[in-house]
Amino acid sequence: MVPPVSNSPALPAAEPWAPRELALVVPTLNERANIPVLVGKLHDVLQGIEWEVLFVDDDSKDGTAAEVRRIAQTDPRVRCIQRIGRRGLASACIEGILATSTPFVGVMDADLQHDETLLPRMLQALREEQLQIVVASRHVEGGSMGDFDKKRVAISDFATRLSRLIVSSDLTDPMSGFFMLRRDAFEAAVRNLSGQGFKILLDIFASSPTPPKFREFPFRFRTRQFGESKLDAMVVWEYLMLIADKLIGHIIPVRFVLFALIGGIGVGVNLVVLKLALQAGLSITGAGVWATLAAMVFNFLLNNQLTYRDRRLKRWKLLRGLITFCIGCSIGAVANVGIAAQVYGQGNSWWLAGLAGALIGAVWNYAIASTYTWGKTK
Ligand code: GDD
Ligand code: MN
Repeated sequence: MVPPVSNSPALPAAEPWAPRELALVVPTLNERANIPVLVGKLHDVLQGIEWEVLFVDDDSKDGTAAEVRRIAQTDPRVRCIQRIGRRGLASACIEGILATSTPFVGVMDADLQHDETLLPRMLQALREEQLQIVVASRHVEGGSMGDFDKKRVAISDFATRLSRLIVSSDLTDPMSGFFMLRRDAFEAAVRNLSGQGFKILLDIFASSPTPPKFREFPFRFRTRQFGESKLDAMVVWEYLMLIADKLIGHIIPVRFVLFALIGGIGVGVNLVVLKLALQAGLSITGAGVWATLAAMVFNFLLNNQLTYRDRRLKRWKLLRGLITFCIGCSIGAVANVGIAAQVYGQGNSWWLAGLAGALIGAVWNYAIASTYTWGKTK
């Protein structure tokens, strides 16, 4: 036990500190040049408000986190969370919000495309009206997509329509990455959030126990000046995954469904290669080996692109992943045959035996793939 210290000096009195009202959470990936500009703009527009800004950086290569810390050294309103080995806009926002304590939290992009002059009005609406969320929308009167190309406008319209499957609220811009909410509204939803992909606002709406009361503010999406967009063609895919997760995720994991579907296509690949190899004059064993290999490589690559896109393996990790995947699947194949033989031996029909074997094999392969091949451990 530590003996009590006599004559211990009194702690210095804490600096008077006005309670903070608003925290802004800003996800970043290679936004170095935008950081000081954004912080400067926030100081300009948020005068008279007690605010802070928290950047959640996914280990940007351009030194974004270092830039945030440089500013944070002299500006106590600025903080940085640096995530290593992680990716994802939605999960960055969730973790950022959880690391703040203010009654109101705003989420906005770092790239100056979101009009920061709206922030005081958004906060005021949350303070004074019976609202849980305020959303900056490009689709209410007065708002605009800025100079988005036609293709992106069309995709965005389609996605908005699709969102009705999981959200009953009449949000005009569920894709918006610019919104503000009360902490209690976030806390009511946080344990149900999917955290997948880009669509954190939609996720919050779809995960709230009752439809949140919201109001929309029109805004014009600005053009990016520094850096480039991180949204690629796959955002559509990630979006569909979010919708599927919200629709069926409570019954069966969407990842498993995808994994099994791709496995099914793999069977087709196996058959085609088998046929070709036999035609080329290989023995049935030789042809079988090539066919199995082809199916496994095909399944591995497709799962890497789609099922486990958020944990995608690259370069030498891709090779290591392929090896663990092939070993896992080989054991799965043995289990498949063994189970099928046993079920068949108990007097069941061939198709039931085959189905039981395939199901056990698929679950096994999925477990190995999720924990080893695309597992979180390094
Ligand atoms: N931490 C983290 N991790 N941040 C990320 C990641 C990530 O994986 N991906 C992107 N960001 C950051 C960017 O640095 C930027 O600050 C913000 O998230 C938005 O990314 P952009 O790449 O600029 O997206 P955008 O401009 O194409 O899309 C915006 O508009 C969409 C509406 O069409 C975003 O606001 C989307 O959320 C929004 O749906
Ligand atoms: Mn952007």
